[in-house]
Amino acid sequence: MRRILVTSALPYANGAIHLGHLVEYIQTDIWARYQRLRGHDCLYLCADDTHGTPIMLRAKREGVTPEQLIERMSQEHRRDFDRFAIQFDHYYSTHSPENRQLAEQIYLKHRAAGHIRTAVIQQAYCPHDQMFLPDRFIRGCCPVCQAADQYGDSCEACSATYTPLELTDARCAVCGTAPVARDSEHLFFKLDDFRPFLQQWTRGGHIQDEVANKLEEWFSSGLKDWNISRDAPYFGFAIPDAPGKFFYVWLDAPIGYMATTLSYCQQQGRCFDDYWLNNDADRPTEVYHFIGKDILYFHALFWPAVLHGAGFRTPNAIFAHGFLTVNGQKMSKSRGTFIDARHYPDTLNPEYLRYYYATKLTSRIDDIDLNLDDFIARVNSDLVGKLVNLASRTAGFIHKQGGGRLAAVYPDDGGLYQAFVAAGDEIGALYEGREFARAMQAIMRLAERANQYVEAQSPWKLAKQPGQELLVQQSCTVALNLFRLLATYLQPALPLTAARVAALFNLPALSWDARETPLFDQPIQPFSHLMARIERATIDAMLLAAAAPPPPSPPPTPSVVVPAAPELLPEIPYDLFAQVDLRIARIEQATLVAGADKLLCLTLDLGAQGQRTVLAGIRAAYPNPEILVGRLTVMVANLQPRQMKFGRSEGMVLAAGTAGSDLYLLAADSGAQPGMRVK
Ligand code: 2FM
Ligand code: ZN
Repeated sequence: MRRILVTSALPYANGAIHLGHLVEYIQTDIWARYQRLRGHDCLYLCADDTHGTPIMLRAKREGVTPEQLIERMSQEHRRDFDRFAIQFDHYYSTHSPENRQLAEQIYLKHRAAGHIRTAVIQQAYCPHDQMFLPDRFIRGCCPVCQAADQYGDSCEACSATYTPLELTDARCAVCGTAPVARDSEHLFFKLDDFRPFLQQWTRGGHIQDEVANKLEEWFSSGLKDWNISRDAPYFGFAIPDAPGKFFYVWLDAPIGYMATTLSYCQQQGRCFDDYWLNNDADRPTEVYHFIGKDILYFHALFWPAVLHGAGFRTPNAIFAHGFLTVNGQKMSKSRGTFIDARHYPDTLNPEYLRYYYATKLTSRIDDIDLNLDDFIARVNSDLVGKLVNLASRTAGFIHKQGGGRLAAVYPDDGGLYQAFVAAGDEIGALYEGREFARAMQAIMRLAERANQYVEAQSPWKLAKQPGQELLVQQSCTVALNLFRLLATYLQPALPLTAARVAALFNLPALSWDARETPLFDQPIQPFSHLMARIERATIDAMLLAAAAPPPPSPPPTPSVVVPAAPELLPEIPYDLFAQVDLRIARIEQATLVAGADKLLCLTLDLGAQGQRTVLAGIRAAYPNPEILVGRLTVMVANLQPRQMKFGRSEGMVLAAGTAGSDLYLLAADSGAQPGMRVK
């Protein structure tokens, strides 16, 4: 069993997660899930990247402390990731005691070894805000082409790069005052001290070939010393022996990978040194960082040098990917294609996006395009047309004509099942090599073969002929076994669907190794709807929601968060509360109720307690109810049934919020099982 640690880049705590970010988290999650599916000990860690001037200024603008801002953003980020089934083993923060301790330790080690020097440099200072201004907080005319309103480091019109003090008519982006040049002493990491090590490391197979060429350019243009300090005021960690100076956010951000490991290890009783000193010779740890191509310099040069110089192990590989375009162009607010993650799952199934990204992802750093028409076509054709149809056209016959059981003996399928098993080697290798697009193609080729088999057998025709029950049961047994193999292969990309497919076969989970043996002579559950076709109108509704102006930031909160909710209800005796039977329920079906503009009709699976039908007033919050199918929620299971105008309601699901679209159905973690008592 391999011990593996994977990370995605730590998202900044001052912005929402958008579909561009999700390329990386989905890519990493698919890879990590694949490793776990193969039985490896694979940790997927991430954290919020919390320090720096933009976060400090945003908190100031909102009238909150940076700590309050990063706490709120962390909750939002976690919620977004969770809704896309990104399964972190631990999600932490760079503003943590572990990160402070490691950053100080690493810095002091470099300082003692002579890899840090000091120098006085001149920088732009805003006399009004009394702070040094980062390049991105200065606007002015480009010194080369005179284009107006350019950032302090580069011109978007002519691509020239320069220093902020070279801008004409420079202004502080916060207050509009003209900055002045001011001297300050800074600390520099002597990157060039590590040139021989880095040249060897970058040629050691740790980076993609196309990236290696880029690095050669950086080596030949010279490895410049790196300023790792910032002046107060700054939200970050104070540098131990330099009063008034803070570590630059990019020094402590990657150290956050280690701090998150440390926090995880402390919680789980595991050994940090196994990961970052790699001193378990019997079972070395593999470390991989998934990142965007824009932060390669930090990860392929600074980071290995920082680690190596401080006596820690370096990563096995840096996996860089390209950017996301939408309909062939950069995501853009004015084109209505800048889509925050939170707007997507209200209307669309997150697994559709996971699958679509998988069909685009390769091991290279090319940009990937989310073409919305192609997205609709691919999901409808592959997932609904080729995958789900396989089961929806056959599972019913197992119940109608096979007594709810798969055939007593696995039928002769002409070697189809074994061919599907054998294809696992190639598919596995493609996942391992991050060639997800090719893996999806290979799986869909199998799906086509399975559909050809079903078409040739046409159990729906056989079912109409008397005396053909056995043949019907046999052909559907084959089709469902092939379906199970496809779902197993798709599990890293479609984990939620795979869990529901496992439940269909009464299995706790789909397993890679167990795929080698077909299932027969056992009952299956009734088939429940898995995925619906995407309609263009749904995409348009999502784009509309994404284009709406963001909600105002919540009002400043005092340091203890006080719920803004209505007054608490009067106390009740414990005995009364104990009579409420709260249970985990899986939403089997969720449909609109004709004529009722506020209601959804939910079919809820309570495991051994059977099924319930509940009419819930949550339609405004979930206008596209199919996205609820498969979710685990909490219901009051012993509420007296009520006859309502639109039908009988047998319980109540729990949601938070006020009313209308401000309602959020409670969710349970994926380990929960339908029917479990909620305590
Ligand atoms: O570019 C970014 O979004 C950074 N927040 C990534 C940091 S990755 C790691 F170094 F922490
Ligand atoms: Zn200013």
